[in-house]
Amino acid sequence: MNHFLNEARALLGDAHVLTPTQADLSAYVTDWRGKFTGTPLAVLRPADTAQVAAAVKLCAAHGLAIVPQGGNTGMCGGATPDGSGRQVVLSLTRLNRVRAVDPLNNTMTVEAGCVLQTLQELAAEHDRLFPLSLGAEGSCQIGGNIATNAGGVQVLRYGNTRDLVLGLEVVLADGQVLNLLRALRKDNTGYDLKHLFIGAEGTLGIITAAVLKLFPAPHASAVAFAALKTPQQALQLLGLMRGALGDRFTAFELMSDASVAMVRQHFPGTPALFADAHPWQVLMQATDPGAGDGAQAALDASFQAALEQALEQGVIDDVVIATSVAQAEELWAVRENISEAQQHDGANIKHDIAVPVSSVAAFIAEVQPLLHAAYAGVRPIVYGHLGDGNLHFNVSRPVGWSTPDWQAETDRVNAIVLDVVARYQGSFSAEHGMGQLKNHEMALYKTPLEINVMRRVKQALDPQGLMNPGKLLP
Ligand code: FAD
Ligand code: MLT
Ligand code: ZN
Repeated sequence: MNHFLNEARALLGDAHVLTPTQADLSAYVTDWRGKFTGTPLAVLRPADTAQVAAAVKLCAAHGLAIVPQGGNTGMCGGATPDGSGRQVVLSLTRLNRVRAVDPLNNTMTVEAGCVLQTLQELAAEHDRLFPLSLGAEGSCQIGGNIATNAGGVQVLRYGNTRDLVLGLEVVLADGQVLNLLRALRKDNTGYDLKHLFIGAEGTLGIITAAVLKLFPAPHASAVAFAALKTPQQALQLLGLMRGALGDRFTAFELMSDASVAMVRQHFPGTPALFADAHPWQVLMQATDPGAGDGAQAALDASFQAALEQALEQGVIDDVVIATSVAQAEELWAVRENISEAQQHDGANIKHDIAVPVSSVAAFIAEVQPLLHAAYAGVRPIVYGHLGDGNLHFNVSRPVGWSTPDWQAETDRVNAIVLDVVARYQGSFSAEHGMGQLKNHEMALYKTPLEINVMRRVKQALDPQGLMNPGKLLP
């Protein structure tokens, strides 16, 4: 292996070949949730596409598997190496250049290691919007977002990451650079290969750059937090707000009171929004690209009128409408801090499921009693992107249970939740991907033929099986 390390150092420079004996690799070897830890042979930190290609060729020549890694915020251990000491983590962090911004074409061409938040800010500097938005945006990278086809809180209006990508540059498993960096909105010239790599979690190739779609910047914004009794009422509210606001309605996030309580417990500055307790709460946002006070006033008027109607009809019981940007951020923080609060709270069996939007309330009504019947005192922490039919249905351990005892129940809890998901023709992983956490469930919930076609794609693009093995496929 010294041979490999010496050649890697010659390619990338000593400072960018990190080994467990010579450097602190803790930032690279454990996932965000702390569920998986590995021991890589080395962490490679190439500076550009040519270095990625050379590093991949070198790994292939030595038969070493590669684990691509972006911001390492993934929820399923996809970026964590195994414990064999024979896998190489390839960090994309140094590929962080912006290659072009074309406001007239409404596109930007950026490298994979750009942090999502810096791209949102770049778009804003050009009076444009890059709409992908999620709690990890300060550290996740666009390459990781594309590799996981991340969702987030604006999917209702703008779609998933897949919908925001026009072109890609990918280093294939043999080190060749596949240039698909076209900035076109129409291009029917054969199989649209970029879609193979979007959501592939690094198992087919390494994304080094992308052409991303931009949208008109929102100049007016309205944000509110509503309290209600049931998920069914939340669905009614969704219909009402979309009817009133159309495409200006951009976000609709559901939270159970237990989710909000968890945030208040672990983030003590979190304000109490309502005087009374309410079983469910919803965070909503509408935006408008129109500039000036007139656009803001018009948006506020439509937003408030719709919420008043919801109050009058008994769809919601109470509502807080943000009166300043700071208050809007405070409301958003309640939602965005749930993941981290959940981390502090300890063991939970996490699900990231989707059912048709219209079925979300029925799904919750069906699955909650099954869990309570199986485990007295169990604590479902339910929140998520209701506007997309995507719930984070996390099952926290019953009071008095130890973490190891609860983790030992994972398969049984998964079966309770995911069998109901399957009855609704839903997805057992809506936006977080498979990684090494959920790939085993594929065998349970996908047909053998679907898995077989995936394996054939994998075999065609990665015949040596060196691209992130043990991830995505069962
Ligand atoms: P990593 O974790 O580094 O990698 C994820 C996967 O992509 C791995 O399989 C890795 O091998 C692969 N990969 C990374 N970069 C590349 C590349 N350049 N080429 C090929 N493969 C690559 N996700 C959502 O969808 N919606 C949310 O709302 C959301 N909220 C989150 C909130 C918090 C607080 C946290 C911690 C995570 C959240 N996530 C969410 C999950 C996570 O942020 C996303 O999956 C994100 O897209 C991962 O990006 P990353 O750069 O951290 O990727
Ligand atoms: C979210 O929506 O907050 C994220 O997807 C992360 C999580 O599931 O906790
Ligand atoms: Zn989410």
